[in-house]
Amino acid sequence: MALEQKEIILGVTGGIAAYKACTLTSLLAKAGAAVHVVMTREAKAFVSPLTFQALSHRPVHDDLFAEADPKQIAHIDLADRADLIVIAPATANIIAKLAAGIADDMLTTTVLASKAPVWIAPAMNVNMYTHPAVQQNLNKLLEYGYRLIEPGEGQLACGWVGKGRMEEPEAIFQMIEAHFSSKRAHDFAGRRILVTAGPTVEKIDPVRYITNRSSGKMGYAIAEAAAARGAHVTLISGPTALQPPNVAEFVAVETAEEMYRAVTERYDDVDAVVKTAAVSDYRPAVVSAQKIKKAQADWSIDLVPNPDILEELGRRKTKKILIGFAAETENIDQYARKKLHAKNLDMIVANNVARADIGFGSDNNQVTFYFRDGRVKPLAVMSKKRVADEICNELNRLFASGDGA
Ligand code: CTP
Repeated sequence: MALEQKEIILGVTGGIAAYKACTLTSLLAKAGAAVHVVMTREAKAFVSPLTFQALSHRPVHDDLFAEADPKQIAHIDLADRADLIVIAPATANIIAKLAAGIADDMLTTTVLASKAPVWIAPAMNVNMYTHPAVQQNLNKLLEYGYRLIEPGEGQLACGWVGKGRMEEPEAIFQMIEAHFSSKRAHDFAGRRILVTAGPTVEKIDPVRYITNRSSGKMGYAIAEAAAARGAHVTLISGPTALQPPNVAEFVAVETAEEMYRAVTERYDDVDAVVKTAAVSDYRPAVVSAQKIKKAQADWSIDLVPNPDILEELGRRKTKKILIGFAAETENIDQYARKKLHAKNLDMIVANNVARADIGFGSDNNQVTFYFRDGRVKPLAVMSKKRVADEICNELNRLFASGDGA
């Protein structure tokens, strides 16, 4: 069993979802894990420490200065022993404290002192969860390398309906089990994934060109995330200012036609394509071999359409997963759905590129996923790395469900 002998710290903070932590404790203990429950003062207002003690068969830690063993410092001992720290439920308060590095109780001191992976399962009111302060703090925790267990949507205990319901204990248990099983982190092992990124550049003459504002950050983050999960990744990129990530194959292209050739040549050999690139829809009809000299008269450039790479992939699609992007400035929902069907995609990631705080060039993004079956999943503003992880999670689900026919 993957969990036997594993030392897991379960941090419980003060939210109504604390009752779900009881089930999680029980599942982990039954699977053979040593569960060390650490409660905040507020958590004890919801569930008694005795409940966790009975379920984990161990003493519960709730007092930083209750040093039972004079030979040890309890929070350091716990921190050193931990194989994994899971905070479930995580309130907005603990998220803020951890983001700020505050250490004022047993749980925060243990987390700060530990080198173990830390997972956060938020549970709160939908408006609290989407508040920029909470989202910024979560982004900070992700930068520290913490893993976020996204809350689900639904009827919340406070009466609101929306995102903020802590992930079910059974699902968290499965994640923990997967983490400790040898397959962990390599859920894309054996998969071949092609990612395109960045803009294309369409020459007018040797010194001038037409391009767009794509930075490549989103596509590079996806390529990196997929490679980290064990996929054989080919990244086909237009010109960007970024360092190529550590992937199996990196192909630099400039024009849409070069990208078209690079992608279609490899299409038969891959299991999935994530088409993040912002491909120029048009190119100059004629590329001048010499620099075009200025003249007094007006100048217009004739443009001819470029091939739509993704549409072509959609037409030729066999058993593969196709994920597209839709960069829109208006009618996002309508245009995204249209592209999803017109290009025969399994999923499209739509974003509003008119917003200055996200999208092109930014490290953050706010996207909505649309699926072939009509499902829609809006995400909060988050780092592009986090969006990349979410896209990989969806891709994994699409692989598992045998979609892509
Ligand atoms: N795409 C492509 N080849 C093109 C144009 C777009 O492969 N010549 C892909 C992009 O990589 C993206 C998706 O199609 O995954 C949608 O791109 P977008 O620019 O949003 O839409 P277009 O189809 O170009 O439509 P429009 O410009 O009218 O919004």
